[in-house]
Amino acid sequence: MAAVVAVALGLTGLVAIQLIRGAAERQALDSLDRQAAVIAGLVRGSEDLAMPTQKLAPKLRLRRQNIQLVTITPGGATQGPFAAAVPAAEREALLRGDSIRGLHRRGGGSGERLLVAGQPVTSGGAVVLLEPASVAGGVSADARRRILTALLVGLVGAAAAGFLLSRQLARPLQQAAAAAHDLAGGRRDVRLRPGGPTEVAELARALNTLAGALATSEGRQRDFLLSVSHELRTPLTAVKGFAEALADGVVPPADVAATGSVVLAESARLERLVSDLLDLARLSATDFRLEMTRVDLSDLVRDASRVWAARAAQAGVELRLELPADPVLTTADPTRIRQVLDGLAENALRVTPAGRPLVIGVHKEQSAAVLEVRDGGPGLTDDDLRVAFERSALYDRYRSTRRVGTGVGLALVAGLTARMGGTAAAGHAAEGGARFAVTLPLLKEPLTVAQRRPP
Ligand SMILES: Nc1ncnc2c1ncn2[C@@H]1O[C@H](COP(=O)(O)OP(=O)(O)OP(=O)(O)O)[C@@H](O)[C@H]1O
Ligand SMILES: [Mg+2]
Repeated sequence: MAAVVAVALGLTGLVAIQLIRGAAERQALDSLDRQAAVIAGLVRGSEDLAMPTQKLAPKLRLRRQNIQLVTITPGGATQGPFAAAVPAAEREALLRGDSIRGLHRRGGGSGERLLVAGQPVTSGGAVVLLEPASVAGGVSADARRRILTALLVGLVGAAAAGFLLSRQLARPLQQAAAAAHDLAGGRRDVRLRPGGPTEVAELARALNTLAGALATSEGRQRDFLLSVSHELRTPLTAVKGFAEALADGVVPPADVAATGSVVLAESARLERLVSDLLDLARLSATDFRLEMTRVDLSDLVRDASRVWAARAAQAGVELRLELPADPVLTTADPTRIRQVLDGLAENALRVTPAGRPLVIGVHKEQSAAVLEVRDGGPGLTDDDLRVAFERSALYDRYRSTRRVGTGVGLALVAGLTARMGGTAAAGHAAEGGARFAVTLPLLKEPLTVAQRRPP
């Protein structure tokens, strides 16, 4: 701030001195002009004008130092030490009876600047007065000192005001910086009081929001870890219990096979949970690879429906497919899109009571290919829909009232879909339960040879 003030005042000083000098020169030129008129009146005939100027000057009472006299006889002869500073054009103008005034440089381009005022003499010829501009219009040392003093006072005042202002600006910024360090250090109860200029207040509000968001996200992470470890423990306990029984030889030979299948089923559950968790963790990593190819969603659903028809039949649920006659093409990783479909169908089947429908459908929507899973289960509330794809959000809400899995599925559905360039949405189904839809960019089908042939 001090530097800015110094630069501003320096410029002001320079401009002020230039302006003052201009005004002083103009005044000096006026006075020189008047003096030239008086002197022109005192000249008596051309013999005066022919006289050497050193003699003529005292006669005309021109005693002021620095003012030089130049005379021009009616015949055009010029006299005086500064005669060369009066250009020919002006000399002619004077002889024609015009007066002249202005600023010239002695000896042309880079010489001393001279104030020039000339007046014609009634009996013919003319007188010209010349005065160095530096003397007449110069800014005196006293004036310079005064200007400098004024500027210095301004500098001190502005610097003091700048110092106070910058402290007022800097204090909330320092507080914000300290709060950010506290946040980085792990404190989550950091709250700033927004104040000061708008931008600084906005920064404080943003930091408060950040602190809140960090606390929420960390809370969720903690809950998630808790639920995951809980989910890991249940199958592990079963595996361990049955394995102990087998090791101790307390399982009758007839039950060994059944015990083995329980252990197998529980380890399969464990394996799925671990691979889901790994997928979820790797989703945001750059090395997460997708094998994107052309996929016909109708085909994919038809394939998957073999498994799901059997599972639905087992649960007494009616599986319906809604597939259009022509293919619905998109670009996706077929394995991942199948994983998405299986996750949604698994969720739906888990909550759909016997006798109610489970619908898997595919359709086109403008430039989108939509894969839909609807069910006749208990459905979700509007509030549920808002957090449906947040990791373990719905799982936490329903684990005590409904059959649930491990709470990773929907987050994985949303993450995988996003990685494939699509979106996942949750809503209410006409069948009474929930509706989950995955929207992917529609791939225009190339025309077949038969279609391309002109009619
Ligand atoms: N179609 C649905 N109808 C009603 N509730 C559902 C439906 N789909 C999901 N939910 C609720 O959302 C919760 C979260 O589903 P999500 O798929 O994320 O986890 P999960 O099925 O519990 O476990 P995971 O899929 O990891 O095995 C479920 O536990 C369930 O309570
Ligand atoms: Mg699930």
